Amino acid sequence: MQDRPPLGDTPPEIFRKQLQQLADWIADFRENLKKLRVAPNDKPGAIRAALPAQAPEQGEAFEKILADIDQLIVPGMVHWSHPMFLGYFGWTQTAPGILGEIISAPLNVNAMTWRTSPAATELETVVIDWIRQWVGLPTEFDGVVYDTASVGIFHALAAAREEAAPSTRKLGLTGRNLPPFRIYTSDQAHNAAEKAAIALGIGEENVRRVPSDSEFRLEVSILRTMIAKDRQSGFKPMAVVATAGTTSTAAVDPIRELARVCRKEGMWLHVDAAYGGGFALLPEYRWITEGWSEADSIIVNPHKSLFVPLDFSVLYVRDLERLRRVFTLTPPDVLRADAVETVKNYMDYGVQLGRRFRALKAWVIFRSFGRDGIAARLRESTRLAKLLADWIQSDKNFELSAPVSMGVVCFRFIAGDKSKIDRLNSEIVERINSSGQAYLNQTKLRGKTVMRIGLGNVLTTKQHLRNAWELIQKTAEEL
Ligand SMILES: Cc1ncc(COP(=O)(O)O)c(C=O)c1O
Repeated sequence: MQDRPPLGDTPPEIFRKQLQQLADWIADFRENLKKLRVAPNDKPGAIRAALPAQAPEQGEAFEKILADIDQLIVPGMVHWSHPMFLGYFGWTQTAPGILGEIISAPLNVNAMTWRTSPAATELETVVIDWIRQWVGLPTEFDGVVYDTASVGIFHALAAAREEAAPSTRKLGLTGRNLPPFRIYTSDQAHNAAEKAAIALGIGEENVRRVPSDSEFRLEVSILRTMIAKDRQSGFKPMAVVATAGTTSTAAVDPIRELARVCRKEGMWLHVDAAYGGGFALLPEYRWITEGWSEADSIIVNPHKSLFVPLDFSVLYVRDLERLRRVFTLTPPDVLRADAVETVKNYMDYGVQLGRRFRALKAWVIFRSFGRDGIAARLRESTRLAKLLADWIQSDKNFELSAPVSMGVVCFRFIAGDKSKIDRLNSEIVERINSSGQAYLNQTKLRGKTVMRIGLGNVLTTKQHLRNAWELIQKTAEEL
């Protein structure tokens, strides 16, 4: 009979060597990142075809696994942390972020109750409060960490639904003669509100898109008319989802005015500050927080603009008990002794039971950079965004398509045959992305295709941006 490897874990002396090997691998990867293609140009299925369809019967050596990562996985990645990755909302990988992720791994806790992980629970509360102070929310706001903003918005709207129709958590929505609910959000907002409406039994079509103004902000006067009409038709207006930093242009809705509407109409106001939330830390961006203190809930994604690697999203609720009331249950028998009632058990604040120790990585990053270091990095992304806007404005073949907001710049190539401009803009983006030299987005604004760059990556310098801009100009010329 063949000798089997011993059971249990890797022997400590081998594990230490593997860790050292991994440390070198990570440091080499970060150093060489700029030399990699930003994105692959493979056909769908190419990576899968290179991988075995069946899991191995016998264990394999770490060296072999790492070699396959180098050969098969790394070339098949879009490198979001590459300095020429200019898509979405920049990206948030930093050395302290990587260290924070690594430290969480051996601790491997499940932060479902205070007793199952006292330090994870209490550090989560501390980090949530640090961010609250940074963005200037009053102390009535307390929060909970989820993976993503989409999940946070779902939970916020679950609380809104419970207040609009008490006992829904117990009885459900059907057979109770309830009016259909309506949720309002701008035509620029993220579709996380629709996702929540689907999951909450409110229905996707009951999320009403309110037109936005010339600067892509929700038009409050139109909202008022829509609410009045809906009431007349028998709907119950339940919530408004305002945005501070929309996905396409980072526009900021007039939240104070929306708070007034919500108060008058008895509706829940949720603020989606998934992107904008981080910028609220800068005094010069404090204006975006106007009206936040009157909201019922606010989502902030430190994984978009506070340098915490994916995933880390905080939902703040004014009087967090409103959220707990919706989701807390008598714990199952096996958990009862671990669910001390007098302390915070984060399992009570949402659907999820098992929870990662996300607060640790945020704590490592926030301590490593300090508020000052974070502010300086955010300011650099706004400086680069303005610089790019200047270059765009000084080239007659291009125009800005929206006001530059935070790290987001939307622009359009406008030279040549007007009937082909949309296609040309799309092709410029496609060509650049498939070249592997840079990565940007395209989006639609008022039906027009535009290019979009999001700055925020700590590795992106003025020179990288200049190279990307020259690549865009050159690609446009060639088409
Ligand atoms: C404004 C806004 N809200 C919500 C989301 C959803 O974020 P998440 O991926 O954390 O669910 C996004 C994603 O880009 C967004 O731009």
